[in-house]
Amino acid sequence: MKGKFIVLEGIDGSGKTTQLKLLGDKLKDRGLPVLHTREPGGTRIGDKIREILLNPEYKELVPRAEAFLYAAARAQHVAQVILPALAKGTIVLCDRFLDSSLAYQGFGRGIEVSLLERINEPATDGLVPDLTIILDFCTEDGMDRINQSGRRIDRIEREAGAFHQRVRMGYLALAGRSPGRYRVINANRPVEQVHRDIMTAAEGVIDEIPEGDSRA
Ligand code: TMP
Repeated sequence: MKGKFIVLEGIDGSGKTTQLKLLGDKLKDRGLPVLHTREPGGTRIGDKIREILLNPEYKELVPRAEAFLYAAARAQHVAQVILPALAKGTIVLCDRFLDSSLAYQGFGRGIEVSLLERINEPATDGLVPDLTIILDFCTEDGMDRINQSGRRIDRIEREAGAFHQRVRMGYLALAGRSPGRYRVINANRPVEQVHRDIMTAAEGVIDEIPEGDSRA
């Protein structure tokens, strides 16, 4: 595999999407081949699954079915989009991946992390990100941002503050479990400062890409 797989994680409202766009633009300016994608989604089928997962009408969705739906969208995304892009030498920037399931369905909903890892084994096909950046952000500020966005609040965002707090702590616990795989960045700071730290973390893995291969 020639490309690089960089994932941005964090609670709702932590600024991931803005930061991923800034990172992608910077890398593209350097002439690097970048693919920007997200979970759940990134494929036609994944987007359909996303509609079910985020629709507040589906109050009856049980945690295990929720976990399987996220894993199903991931299986499609990995096979159809991520692996082929990496094989071509692309830098894949992904808004959420497996750790979202571990943080939200695991720490948030209370499903055992080891069970989620088993469910997701066939979904990720053994793919592990080269870098996972966790934007650590205050949950109250995250909710305020979402409430001020003016768009419809989705099924997960409607969860209580305590749920989002468990998710935040879950991310920190995951990072603590295998510190080498993660970079935790304090996102309660101006956008530009957070961006600078993300850029430094990304450069750490991107520099290893051979010039010729990366432009395939
Ligand atoms: P987004 O709004 O950042 O695109 O993410 C959609 C929501 O889905 C967000 O609240 C986090 C949640 N989520 C999970 O609960 N488990 C997962 O595996 C993924 C990828 C997202």
